[in-house]
Amino acid sequence: FGRNFISLASTDSTNLRARALARDGAAEGTVVVADSQTGGRGRMRRAWVSPAGVNLYCSIVLRPPVPSVRVPEIPLVAAAAIHEAVAAECPDLAAFIKWPNDIIVAGRKLCGILCEMESEPDCTHFVVVGFGLNVNLDPAPEELREIATSIAIATGRSASRARLLAAVLNRFERLYLDWRERDDLSFILPYLEAHAWLKGRELKIEQFSKVLTGLEAGLSPQGHLLLRTADGSILPVSSGEAHLLPV
Ligand code: BTN
Repeated sequence: FGRNFISLASTDSTNLRARALARDGAAEGTVVVADSQTGGRGRMRRAWVSPAGVNLYCSIVLRPPVPSVRVPEIPLVAAAAIHEAVAAECPDLAAFIKWPNDIIVAGRKLCGILCEMESEPDCTHFVVVGFGLNVNLDPAPEELREIATSIAIATGRSASRARLLAAVLNRFERLYLDWRERDDLSFILPYLEAHAWLKGRELKIEQFSKVLTGLEAGLSPQGHLLLRTADGSILPVSSGEAHLLPV
């Protein structure tokens, strides 16, 4: 990743830039980074606050040669890669992977991932994986103080954005190429489960039209969260936003 590398001082959203480049034929592995974003986007149509000089805002173009049903596995591949990179660069940071695509430290979001797929006229598809990693943001903006953290906030030390970016891109490329050759996520399930923030906890999962509750009982090889519901059955959940219920 990053042999085609576009570095911008500011842009609306690196995901939107990368999607536009991909529509124009940008190669797999094209990377767009920006020092700040004026229209950073999160999941569920939320905004991603993107001040200059402190964090990483990065999007990667992928052209996975797999059926589109496997695309929802990609955020978990990215989450594993980002988790590995952060753990290698900041060994004293206790970071967890929150299904389906966040990295959490001390109950707050360190990194969010936004994975978007577009189908092309020739029936192929491309995917843009964007991540926002809070590195030296300190303090967090008032309105995000309860929900966001950064490496600097959590460790009391600043970290090199360039080193972190290189660590993420190297690991993500390796895991992604491995994933393409497999049938599912089995090869990283032990890693995802070992670092799962929701492991064994009582959850509420919000979906667009409903709310599910139950006990986290692991992940399926397709990246579905397995929820043990009140009647004791296991329900595979493909998407949604999970919240821990108080113990
Ligand atoms: C989320 O947790 O809701 C996902 C946040 C994703 C933010 C990143 S920052 C780089 C890329 N460009 C965007 O506009 N969004 C993603």
